[in-house]
Amino acid sequence: MNVNDTEVIFSILADAGYARTEEMDQADLVMANTCSIRDNAEQRIWGRLEVFNQLRKKNPALLVGIVGCMAERLKDKLLDTHKVDLVAGPDAYRSLPRMLEAIGPDSPQIDVLLSREETYADITPVRTDKNGISAFISIMRGCNNVCSYCVVPYTRGAERSRDAHSIVREACDVYQRGYKEVTLLGQNVDSYLWKSGTETVDFAGLLERVAEIAPDLRVRFATSHPKDISDEVIFTMAAHPNICKHIHLPVQSGSSRMLEKMRRKYDRAWYLERVAKIRSVMPECGLTTDVIAGFCSETLEDHTDTLSLMEEVGFDWAFMFAYSERPGTLAQRNYPDDVPSAEKNRRLNEIITLQNRKSLERYRAQIGKTLEVLVEGPSKRNPEQLCGRASNNMMCVFPALDRKAGSYVCVKVVDATSATLICE
Ligand code: 5AD
Ligand code: SF4
Repeated sequence: MNVNDTEVIFSILADAGYARTEEMDQADLVMANTCSIRDNAEQRIWGRLEVFNQLRKKNPALLVGIVGCMAERLKDKLLDTHKVDLVAGPDAYRSLPRMLEAIGPDSPQIDVLLSREETYADITPVRTDKNGISAFISIMRGCNNVCSYCVVPYTRGAERSRDAHSIVREACDVYQRGYKEVTLLGQNVDSYLWKSGTETVDFAGLLERVAEIAPDLRVRFATSHPKDISDEVIFTMAAHPNICKHIHLPVQSGSSRMLEKMRRKYDRAWYLERVAKIRSVMPECGLTTDVIAGFCSETLEDHTDTLSLMEEVGFDWAFMFAYSERPGTLAQRNYPDDVPSAEKNRRLNEIITLQNRKSLERYRAQIGKTLEVLVEGPSKRNPEQLCGRASNNMMCVFPALDRKAGSYVCVKVVDATSATLICE
């Protein structure tokens, strides 16, 4: 999401005459695009600001800006203590050129207003990816769910869906420029809904339109919400070979009591039913998830429920976090953050150990299969080898031969680690 926002910012600034440099000490302007989701993401930015201030000593004319979610949350601290020149929230990017012009020695510029409409639909992002094969396309912004632990609805505002035609146009455009994969992005893609006149497009409809652009353009998406992922979306995925068979379906906890307290609006049984549905329609579908350890009042029994759910589902991969209390959220206002941090980390480590074992099982289960892979480029570890993802999102490495990045190859899986399939 933030990478895509950065691409939008590059586009807006390029139109205003700014050029991009890869060398920070050559820049006249540096901006950090920030995330507030967990405290450690914010902590990293304070460290970054120190680096920028060092640069400013060498180049007193250097302008320093903070954009994105932290801007909204921490504007006062940024301006008063850290002396940044510009603070712009996620819906203020169109104003950046004007704000940059207006910066003076004692007049920092600030715009953190959130919008109900802004989707940057008409802005063509300047792609920052290096390989020219896989592009992110933002289909909506903000979030209307108020999960009690989550700061996103406060920092990114209310949910709005982007014009479906502009999404399809952007996907066609990247395909014509040689890209072979698009990933449709939103906090909760299943609630995508765009209306104009008599036309209504939901997420299944949008997926279909993008999938129909070209059979050799792969379509991925993230993130799905267990309460909203519909049978229609599952059937649409199954019906189109170029829609990748992978769903990122954050469960957060395996305890129905915790899920209720998190305001996720589903329980354990509902989640397991959605997984069963996905697997009955697409037995080969990759499944990944997010898990939070040590949410408010989590008991050992709740934690064991999370472990048993992970055991039962067998995710290919998971992003696993210790609960981090975020100021202003429902949880922060209503529930004490009462699992001691050593215990949170102990539970998190148990979760990670279990998931590593499951990942290895899931990856090893692919041995002997033949998979279609989109070649991304040389493997990081061994330049004689290429790497690329299978439809189920598993990373494959295989001998380069004469294959080029951007082509499709069929590989046979001969071995596996918990994160890579070794193929021929
Ligand atoms: N603490 C820990 N993890 C969090 N996430 C969101 N908010 C928090 C928080 N306060 C995790 C969730 C979400 C992912 C993007 O980040 O698992 O799915
Ligand atoms: Fe946060 Fe919940 Fe929205 Fe995801 S769905 S962004 S966890 S509020």
